[in-house]
Amino acid sequence: RRGLNTRFFGKEVLHFQRVGSTNQVALELARKGYPEGTLVVAEEQTAGRGRWRRPWLAPPGKALLFSLVLRPSLVPYRVPEVTLVTGASVARAIHEHTGLRVGIKWPNDLLYEGKKLCGILVEMEAAAEQVNYLVLGIGINVNQERDDFPPELQDTATSLRMILGEKVLRLPLLQRLLEILEDDYQEYCRDGFAPSRERWLGYQVTLGRRVRISVGGKEFSGEAAGVAEDGSLLLRLPGGDLISCNSGEVVLCRE
Ligand code: BTN
Repeated sequence: RRGLNTRFFGKEVLHFQRVGSTNQVALELARKGYPEGTLVVAEEQTAGRGRWRRPWLAPPGKALLFSLVLRPSLVPYRVPEVTLVTGASVARAIHEHTGLRVGIKWPNDLLYEGKKLCGILVEMEAAAEQVNYLVLGIGINVNQERDDFPPELQDTATSLRMILGEKVLRLPLLQRLLEILEDDYQEYCRDGFAPSRERWLGYQVTLGRRVRISVGGKEFSGEAAGVAEDGSLLLRLPGGDLISCNSGEVVLCRE
């Protein structure tokens, strides 16, 4: 907490050597009434989870694994905006901390030269009209080396250390990230999605590319033509029709 310049993000911190999933812990704390900004950090997760029920794997002490409790006053269908806000915040923090320009693949995978550097998983508890709480889960590959990744990920995942060729301190990166996340989140709550959307567009590497997207078990191919006001991906199908996808898994095709 020393050196952390935030108003409420990370004021309450729970640090674990080992935990199932920081998102799971944060969801439980949120349910118990822990305040907005409560931070759960772990050195190791035994049941780290990613989007689409995939596991999220990282060896102890090498990645930055954390979750934040948020209590925005928001209707559930606007939650995808928060995930885009977060992607842009993380991209900026990594740039400030390391000088690296990372790209965002819609909605919020952070890539460096096409390889995955960071994942974001937002989970929520909501009634029909109102979000009760959100958990923002962020996993950044910081000090892993190639062999730390399972063989099937070695060609598609990367870490700050692999890119920069030296170890990176995790604590100052986390502190800067919390400051930026708090600023951007407060701006989002005050001014809406438009300012973050602009920043997100500055980092994204999806638009203009040929992509495949699977949405609810169906696959579509086309050109990623734009991002709507609410953060949905607009896909131009080969026939020229434009469809809007508010969630899905994107594969960037070779040019
Ligand atoms: C993805 O790209 O699929 C999202 C990965 C999110 C991983 C982070 S690590 C910290 C937090 N706790 C979890 O169990 N998942 C998120």
